[in-house]
Amino acid sequence: LSRVLRRREKLPQENTVDDAVRLLSTAKRIIVLSGAGISTSCGIPDFRSSTGLYAQLQAEGKYELDDPQQMFDISYFREHPEVFYSFAKQIYPSNFVPSPCHRWIKLLEDRGVLLRNYTQNIDTLESLAGVTNVLQCHGSFSTASCLRCKDRMPGSVIEPYIMSQRIPYCPKCRPQRDAEIAAIKAYRAQRRAKSKSKGKAKATWDDDETEDDDDDIPEWSGEPGIIKPDITFFGQALDSEFDECLFRDREQVDLLVIMGTSLKVAPVSEVLSHIPHSVPQIFINLTPVTHVKPDICLLGDADSIVTALSDRLGWSIPPPPHGDAA
Ligand code: APR
Repeated sequence: LSRVLRRREKLPQENTVDDAVRLLSTAKRIIVLSGAGISTSCGIPDFRSSTGLYAQLQAEGKYELDDPQQMFDISYFREHPEVFYSFAKQIYPSNFVPSPCHRWIKLLEDRGVLLRNYTQNIDTLESLAGVTNVLQCHGSFSTASCLRCKDRMPGSVIEPYIMSQRIPYCPKCRPQRDAEIAAIKAYRAQRRAKSKSKGKAKATWDDDETEDDDDDIPEWSGEPGIIKPDITFFGQALDSEFDECLFRDREQVDLLVIMGTSLKVAPVSEVLSHIPHSVPQIFINLTPVTHVKPDICLLGDADSIVTALSDRLGWSIPPPPHGDAA
């Protein structure tokens, strides 16, 4: 394990490794807080690494975004849903195989010591690895909702649209939306006809301005009833389940393991400050974080680190599900 760690960083990490092994061997209620770094070995880019999704979007320049994060910004989505729907197929979960990290989380659950996995990832690989106690803090593609009538549906409803890069409109509120648009068109036509006739009558007398029928402009919510996958965009609140779980778990947790995340996005990044200081924190990541100070930092490839820790603990990480090639 020290070879794995040292290969990446010339840091004296032996003592921390022993501490990590000791903590893992006695912990009974572990929270794992995971990010995109545990899926990179599955072929899914993370976000902020030099080879991550944001760097790719910036380099491609295909979508004319001021900032690559706009791809996942709710206000930008409302304005330009076609941009997200021309891109979404690139990140849509398909036949990816869970990494050793995903399977290590499953191992913790099988040993009865996983209090909860808080994942920021939307690739659902934790569930594919068999983890049941996983909270998808940033949602996933498994369901989708209409921005207008809030109707929630299985994500499979919009999969054909994602794959063919088309915007899905809500069938439920489409009739109402079409009726509103028709009413507005009729209203405008009526106003045009009226102002035309006013124009002719202008020669004789000034029309009574109060006759203006502004008060019967048809209602138009502005929301065209676009369906959006239930992944949390910037500018959207997390599902209340996140706060409810954290409120309960913070009283029970006895070890926090953070893996594969830059801890840059709140409120998930603030989990560390909600956990009592008495609870030790192990940070497993390719790159260090400077804005927080976990007790133990194991820097290197997460898959290699959890595999080596398991070897030291005499644990064996389960094989990929359905015998998929790892
Ligand atoms: N082993 C260990 N760490 C890795 C590996 C690996 N094989 N590959 C990448 N990493 C690390 C990177 O060094 C980086 O610090 O994982 C971290 C991933 O950080 P981000 O790309 O910022 O991803 P994440 O922290 O999950 O982003 C959080 O930001 O854009 C939003 O909603 C999006 O959920 C995402 C959130």
